[in-house]
Amino acid sequence: MSGKFITFEGTDGAGKTTILNMVLKHLEATMKDNLVTSREPGGNPIAESIRQVILDRNNVDMDPKTEALLYAAARRQNIVETVKPALENNKLVICDRYLDSSIAYQGGGRNIGEKAINDMNQFATDGFLPDLTIYFNLPVEDGLKRIAQNRDENDIDRLDVETIDFHHRVHDAYQRLMKEYPDRIYAVDARQSIDDVYEDVMKILQPYVNEFKD
Ligand SMILES: Nc1ncnc2c1ncn2[C@@H]1O[C@H](COP(=O)(O)OP(=O)(O)OP(=O)(O)O)[C@@H](O)[C@H]1O
Ligand SMILES: [Mg+2]
Repeated sequence: MSGKFITFEGTDGAGKTTILNMVLKHLEATMKDNLVTSREPGGNPIAESIRQVILDRNNVDMDPKTEALLYAAARRQNIVETVKPALENNKLVICDRYLDSSIAYQGGGRNIGEKAINDMNQFATDGFLPDLTIYFNLPVEDGLKRIAQNRDENDIDRLDVETIDFHHRVHDAYQRLMKEYPDRIYAVDARQSIDDVYEDVMKILQPYVNEFKD
């Protein structure tokens, strides 16, 4: 496989999607169809259908392991249908979230255990890991504030303690992943302004981008 697979990771509201959209806008002229973007869960019709089930507000009774399996199923489909074919065609693929999200959210956040989630995902991914992961490092409260502001609801206290604990477990799991994979995961300081985060991300991406210009 000759392309490169890059993932964006981080807690809620850290700026992944904002920056990915800026990267896409900036690079689409020079990279043309050498740049492929995707997101998890989703990225193709089957995985987007699974996303609807995961996100459906009526599914309040979803068991944490069911949720973890659905994420892994969507991931599998995205790898097989979108990511690997693009890599085989020598594309640069950037995906908004991937396996690290499952390890952090389901393993840490939902307390299933990071090893259990990693093991289960080996079946889904055949051990396929990104060439590079950009981790948007942001304190939990900052991310939740950004989301609350975006929803025009400044009252972060409405989020119950358990929800904040959940986000802290996710954050802690991400910090462990950074230590475990120092060669793959590059952290950016996501507390900075959008423009400064974007600049840091572009610096990390530039060597990859240079390889893929037409
Ligand atoms: N560096 C930043 N400074 C201030 N606000 C930001 C910054 N980056 C993003 N935001 C704002 O924070 C909100 C959340 O950003 P975004 O949706 O990009 O986060 P995300 O990491 O994709 O979150 P999620 O994991 O929930 O998808 C948006 O309203 C966005 O405009
Ligand atoms: Mg997002």
